[in-house]
Amino acid sequence: MEIYAVKINGFEKPIGYLFDTLLCSWKVRGAKGNKQANAHIAVSTDPALDTVLYEVSKAELDALGVPLGLRLAPCTRYYYRVTVTSDLGEIAQSNIEWFETGKLDQPWEAQWLGFEDDTRHPEFAKTFRLDRDVAQARLYICGLGLFEADINGKKAGNDFLAPFINDYEEHVQYCTYDVTDLLSADNELRVRLGKGWWMGRFGLAGRQNPERGFALIAELRVWYKDGGEAVIGTDASWSCRGSVFELSDIYDGEIQNHLLWEGRENPWQPANITSAPAALTARYSPPLHAMEALGVKEVINTPAGETVLDFGQNLAGYVECSQQLPKGTVLTMEFGEILQNGNFYHDNYRTAKSVFRTISDGKTRLVRPYFTFFGFRYVKISGLEQVDESAFIARAVYSGMERVGTLETGNAKINRLHENTLWGLKSNFLDMPTDCPQRDERLGWTGDAQVFCRTAGYLMDTRGFYAKFLRDLRSDQLRCQGKVAIYLPNNVPGATSAVWSDIAALLPDMFYDYYGSRDMLSLHYPLMKDWVDSVRREDIARGEKHLWDFGFHFGDWLALDGATEQSTFGRTDDGFIASAYFYASASCVAKAAALLGKGEAEEYARLAEDIRAAILNEYFTKTGRLAIDTQTGYLVALKFNLYTDKARIIEGLRARFKKDCGRIKGGFVGATMMNTVLAENGLSDIAYDLLFFEGFPGWLYAINLGATTIWERWNSVLPDGSISGTGMNSLNHYSYGSVVEFLYRHSAGIAPLTPGFRKARIAPLPEIRLGHLTCAYDSAAGLYVSSWNILEDGSVSFHIEIPFGCEAELVLPEQKPLTLTAGSYDYNIKTLRDYRKLYNADTPMERLLENESAVAVLEKHLPDALKALNRSDVEAMSKSLSDLSRRALLFRASSDRCDMAIEEIQRIRI
Ligand code: BGC
Repeated sequence: MEIYAVKINGFEKPIGYLFDTLLCSWKVRGAKGNKQANAHIAVSTDPALDTVLYEVSKAELDALGVPLGLRLAPCTRYYYRVTVTSDLGEIAQSNIEWFETGKLDQPWEAQWLGFEDDTRHPEFAKTFRLDRDVAQARLYICGLGLFEADINGKKAGNDFLAPFINDYEEHVQYCTYDVTDLLSADNELRVRLGKGWWMGRFGLAGRQNPERGFALIAELRVWYKDGGEAVIGTDASWSCRGSVFELSDIYDGEIQNHLLWEGRENPWQPANITSAPAALTARYSPPLHAMEALGVKEVINTPAGETVLDFGQNLAGYVECSQQLPKGTVLTMEFGEILQNGNFYHDNYRTAKSVFRTISDGKTRLVRPYFTFFGFRYVKISGLEQVDESAFIARAVYSGMERVGTLETGNAKINRLHENTLWGLKSNFLDMPTDCPQRDERLGWTGDAQVFCRTAGYLMDTRGFYAKFLRDLRSDQLRCQGKVAIYLPNNVPGATSAVWSDIAALLPDMFYDYYGSRDMLSLHYPLMKDWVDSVRREDIARGEKHLWDFGFHFGDWLALDGATEQSTFGRTDDGFIASAYFYASASCVAKAAALLGKGEAEEYARLAEDIRAAILNEYFTKTGRLAIDTQTGYLVALKFNLYTDKARIIEGLRARFKKDCGRIKGGFVGATMMNTVLAENGLSDIAYDLLFFEGFPGWLYAINLGATTIWERWNSVLPDGSISGTGMNSLNHYSYGSVVEFLYRHSAGIAPLTPGFRKARIAPLPEIRLGHLTCAYDSAAGLYVSSWNILEDGSVSFHIEIPFGCEAELVLPEQKPLTLTAGSYDYNIKTLRDYRKLYNADTPMERLLENESAVAVLEKHLPDALKALNRSDVEAMSKSLSDLSRRALLFRASSDRCDMAIEEIQRIRI
């Protein structure tokens, strides 16, 4: 028995974080017993835990998050250990873990330094001597817009782009770094600043905020071995001067000119004290580091004569270069996601220049940007006589999160889709959930985050990451009378849209479902409630129809059933979508209020009911038919249980797909929930058909064209490899990757029944086109495994694992549900349904024509129909043998011949 994943607020060993909640969580594996008989947590400032400051010991301590009732002191490291006893008396102890406070309420002794000259980028320096032995040293620091600090030439901490993205009107985060090992007797502390999100060009209007100005505050605290203390804080004794940075911009890139000051005066000047540009708070951003390192896959000499490095993977981050650059070399890197006609291309970055340039002074250094990042797969290199490809490394940058989900199937394309989604996540989880990492946007679009969050929860431990976003949404909301942003950092305050702003209720709901912490739910509750109240107020002002059929909405963004296939707005009625999300958000508030024991629970349940009644009245016929005949209309109705006659809605959806020739029409609303809603309503056959469709529009279309991330549009790239447009066309948008939730939740079948996956429902959906599937999901409560394999004899084998302290309801095909406790289980099942079967009477022609044996059957029984079939007619190709049978006369075939064909088609196996 072993305790692992011991965390505070979802972080391992957090240092200097904002600890306004202090939730200790852990997981257990390898136990013989299946549940906890007791848990004990001891906290101390003593590394060996010999004296204990706080302890708690109870059978019912919840490993999903135990609030530690500690009064915290500033600048203090707390050590803690978890001990769990199982119901069989086994005892496991965790390692001794720690977390460390920052300054808390301790006043800053340091002062803010400014830099008046906005034509230059500043660097600050302080030299100092420490003549006693140092026991510990910490650097508490915030530099605006972005900073990198080093002591004696070595970087303090390993964050990139600190202090990250802030709600600047509310506060900026300071970081805490352990710099004990960087110090010696004589020291120099240097800090360089870049513009970043604070001052640079950022946001939809591309606004710059130069007036905000560069600023720095830093406090180096040293604890000597003899018990003394020293504080070296920013003050007038520091010096500053212009640095080598000529440009630092999130969109445009960075220029480092190491010859900038050659032959020119640039003396160190005394630094200027300035007033605080913003309030300070301890960091709550997760670590932001360089993660994967990718080498060059290929050096491409393009027809246009360019040298382009292909890293083989679209990602967000930067490229470093260790090649020796002779003095005067101007090395330029330009970033792109795709080649066009074999040449470098990045017109789809719109106005984002995305250039990194360094001008060498001949000194040896590892060249890399400090204050920007890029979204790219290809890098055009200029300025070098010879490119040493081994000297270039791409570094992916994203917020530190533990990977929790792995999934592999027998289908290489689906595995690639999963991988692409994971890369989509990595590329867009750079301190906040963004839409894309490359063009002049990279914004925390709330709609994209909302539609993807339940997928992300299967891939990574997103607790720390989403807690940060939720906190920023809340502080922004407090300035907007309850309204919730369409993107962060918000430079269109007051603008809202259904689905997007509904993140205020739906993300906390996901957070509770996945991580099961009431404390966090209670923290998020005001965001949820104030959001619903703000929509409700507007509805009341319009006569209280209990509908949200007013105002601006993105609606079913980028759906294919709009005015044209390139239209941004889809066909589904915005008022219906918005009202459904109003209902969903109000229901989340009612549910949360009830869980938290709040008096208003009933009021919100009633509000939700009133909205539901108004929707049924407005958008449904008297007999229960949905008056909006679009895929997204039906999907939304089913997802939120908005109907009087469910069977009718399901039938409507099935019929709609038929009318749509089995093609996806939904956009950001419909397509992102499509497969999960289909599976939840007994339509997994359609879900699998959509998943495996290889053409446009479909998930595998992009895979077939070599995509390594998820695209913004179904046809971002056309079959000939040319990009379909530059206005709004990113090749690294995670939204449509939401289909991966279907793979975890339905194909593997692991879904939470109670918060935090303490109880799960395991209901796998075997499918011959996947062949086999292995999924391991290390949920907040522990590791679930669900694997299946369709065997040659037609039986299906399943392997299931349930973690310690958990329970699952197992629903295997055609079997009675079972309740499983912790443990490992194997089954081999012979079902009435033959899972080896590839086709049935409803399989569309276009699929049958992909298989030689199926074509042979058609040639044998229905040669005329086959000859008459126009293969470029999407509608004709979407018909099945049962459709043919119904219309047999029209095709001059007898329906018996169709029936014979169906018989034989159904016997085809892989
Ligand atoms: C973004 C989206 C976003 C949308 C708002 C786009 O430019 O890239 O993903 O949600 O605008 O409709």
